[in-house]
Amino acid sequence: MKTLTVALGDRSYPIHIGQGLLGQADLLRPHIRGRQVLVVSNETVAPLYLDRVLGMLTGLDVSTVILPDGEQYKNLDTLNTIYTALLEKRLNRGCTLIALGGGVVGDITGFAAASYQRGVAFLQVPTTLLAQVDSSVGGKTGVNHALGKNMIGAFHQPGCVLIDTNTLDTLDDRQLAAGLAEVIKYGLIHDAEFFRWLEQNMAALMARDKAALAYAIERSCSIKAEIVAADERESGRRALLNLGHTFGHAIETGTGYGNWLHGEAVGAGMVMAADLSARHGWINRADVERATALIRSAGLPVAPPPEMSKQQFLDLMAVDKKAVDGGLRLVLLKAIGIAIVTADYRAELLGETLDAAA
Ligand code: NAD
Ligand code: GLY
Repeated sequence: MKTLTVALGDRSYPIHIGQGLLGQADLLRPHIRGRQVLVVSNETVAPLYLDRVLGMLTGLDVSTVILPDGEQYKNLDTLNTIYTALLEKRLNRGCTLIALGGGVVGDITGFAAASYQRGVAFLQVPTTLLAQVDSSVGGKTGVNHALGKNMIGAFHQPGCVLIDTNTLDTLDDRQLAAGLAEVIKYGLIHDAEFFRWLEQNMAALMARDKAALAYAIERSCSIKAEIVAADERESGRRALLNLGHTFGHAIETGTGYGNWLHGEAVGAGMVMAADLSARHGWINRADVERATALIRSAGLPVAPPPEMSKQQFLDLMAVDKKAVDGGLRLVLLKAIGIAIVTADYRAELLGETLDAAA
C-alpha cells in the first residue's frame, strides 16, 4: 500500500492506494466523525462493493442511499434524494457521508456533505479509474445544470480517500479508457517524463497490468495532491488541471449528459487544446501528433462529434467556469509537460481549431 497526503494544514488528508483496501477498516475508521454514517452509492456499484464497505463500519449507526446510475442523474433532483435521506434518518451535524462509486457519486455526495447543515464530514471510496486518479482528490464537488456542466457546487475536502485498485477488475474497457484521459492530462500539463512513461506503457495499462496501473494512479494522485495543496481554490495553477475540459465540457453538454463520457470528451478536448497551442506556435506539429497518438492509443476519441457546430462550441464554452468578466480563459500547452492558463490566445486561431475539428 502507498499513502500520499494532500497537504492542507489542519484539513490535510491521506490518499491510501493499494489492492484489497476495501476490507481494511483501520484505514477508514479514524476519519469517521460521530456515530452516524450515510453511505451513498449507485445501483451498479452497490451490488459489487457495498457489503465490503458496510463490513468496515460495524458498530456504527449506518444508513445507505442508492442513486440511479449515470451522468444524467448528477443534478439537483438526485441531490435532493440525499438530503431527504439525511433528514428522514435524522442525521445530525456530526455525521459522516461516504461516497462509494465513480466521479458522479463522489461529486454529488461531496456536495451533499458540503451543504447539509452547512457542512458535514465525507470520505471518498472511488471505484473508477477516473475517480481514483482525479475526482476523489481535491474537494471539487457539485452537480450539473442543463445549461452547464458542474455549474453548481462547492469546494469541500474529504477526510480521506481510500483507493482499492482491485475495484478496477469490474470496470469495463470504455470506462477504463475514460480514466486514462485524465492520467494523460497529468503528463501533458506537468510531467514530460511521465508522458514518455505513458507512451511506453499504454499497452500494459490497457491490458490492466496491476503494477502499471498502480504506478499510473500513484503518479496521478501525487501530481494532483501537489497542485491542490498549492492552489486549493483554483486562483491560479489548479486551473491547469482543466486541460481539454473547456472543449470537453462543451461536448458533454452539447451531446447531452451521459452520451459522451467525461474522459472521452476530455480526450478530444486535449487534442483541440494541443492543436490551438500549435496554431500559436507554442508547440510544434510533432508534439500535437504525439499527444494525439497517445490519446488514440488509450482507445479515446481524438475529435469532437461531427454534429457539433463551431457556434455551438462557442456558445457552450462561454459559460466555462474559467471565464472571467466575460473573457474566456483556456489551458494551452507551451511544451509537452508545461501548460498555461491564458486569455491571451488569438480568437481567429480558436476559430481555426473549431473549424478544423467541427
Ligand atoms: P461515473 O461515476 O459515471 O462512473 C462510470 C460508470 O462506471 C458508471 O456506470 C458507474 O456506475 C460504473 N462503475 C463505477 N465503479 C465501477 C466498478 N468498480 N465496476 C463496475 N462499474 C463501475 O463516471 P466517472 O468517469 O467515474 O466520473 C465522471 C464524473 O466525474 C463527471 O461527472 C465529471 O464531471 C466528474 N469529475 C469530477 C472531478 C472533480 O475534481 N471533482 C474531476 C474529474 C471528473
Ligand atoms: N479536475 C479538476 C480539478 O480538480 O481541479
